Amino acid sequence: MIGLRVAGTGSFLPERVVTNEDLSRTLDTSDEWIRTRTGIVSRHLLDPDTPPATMGIAAAREAMGRAGLPPDAVELLIVATNVPEELIPGSAPFIAAGLGLHHEPPFFDIKAGCAGFVFAMAVAGAMMASGIARNALIVGIEALSRFVDWGDRKTCVLFGDGAGAVALTAAGEERGILGVSLHGDADKLGLLRIPAGGVRLPASAETVASRKHFLQMKGRGVYQSAVTMMERATLEAAERAGISLADIDWLLPHQANLRIIEALVRRLGFPRDRVLVNIDRVANTSTASIPILLDEAVRAGTIGDGDIVALTAFGAGACYGTVILRW
Ligand code: ACO
Repeated sequence: MIGLRVAGTGSFLPERVVTNEDLSRTLDTSDEWIRTRTGIVSRHLLDPDTPPATMGIAAAREAMGRAGLPPDAVELLIVATNVPEELIPGSAPFIAAGLGLHHEPPFFDIKAGCAGFVFAMAVAGAMMASGIARNALIVGIEALSRFVDWGDRKTCVLFGDGAGAVALTAAGEERGILGVSLHGDADKLGLLRIPAGGVRLPASAETVASRKHFLQMKGRGVYQSAVTMMERATLEAAERAGISLADIDWLLPHQANLRIIEALVRRLGFPRDRVLVNIDRVANTSTASIPILLDEAVRAGTIGDGDIVALTAFGAGACYGTVILRW
């Protein structure tokens, strides 16, 4: 048990909403295909001229405001993202600058595919438990719209942009992280990747011409792995927490695809009415998906004091995991 409190949540979705119907005007797809295969109806997309960090800054400000955590009191900032503001120095410094964290607290990025936010929760909890920080700000932020090929109907319809944040503060043993399960399966590293732009294959005229800077995905493989990975992690985290699945009040799965979520829930035998879903409006926002969902649930009064909440995700790597909290 790691004693901590989610003292505040926040989220930000760009103003521009793009529906399946909108996409079908320029792409060989249909609302019917996207809706039935993925559960997605619309997504929010960031304007091309807006720096993505602005989304993370807005979400973090909201979480800090609700937690009553002023910028000069933040002791740790972790940013989970797959597509950083710049390759060097990543996203965290841009968000720290935007938040006015002038007292030089530690900040860094975590890259663990779409499971980045769950990994960041575990890392922040461990750092708080070891006394490195008494509070932490975690931001999940993604602008994948800049890295999907808008001519590839197999991938571009799936994603949306956004950011979510939580502010964690130290607390007694009555609430906090009850159980954690984190894993990585490197045999699956080919499922999701952007092959060019890193040191293995730096940008060149050839990489641009062959569209290697865009996200590539093996959809079937992702689907199959995602379900079994989140199932394994959730069962393991519950066992480590010393609880049964029936004790979990709310399951918040990464919003990758409604069919993945429904298959997971069936395999776990978990009641569907205690599974939170917003993929229809938000699509897959990768590392931002769980903190956005969490913020919506907290603001709606769905999640309340003492509830047991399970956050589960999988993503590129393949990284996957579950964190179970007592609220
Ligand atoms: N509109 C219309 N037709 C489409 C579209 C589209 N948007 N996308 C694919 N198709 C077509 C394909 O071209 C193919 O046609 P063909 O047989 O003539 O070539 C047909 O539909 C079937 O394509 P598949 O890719 O085999 O479709 P599948 O039934 O596997 O569904 C999907 C695709 C929805 C992506 C599925 O594989 C899936 O859910 N995978 C999980 C992927 C996922 O959720 N990724 C999220 C990102 S990863 C993450 O969050 C960690």
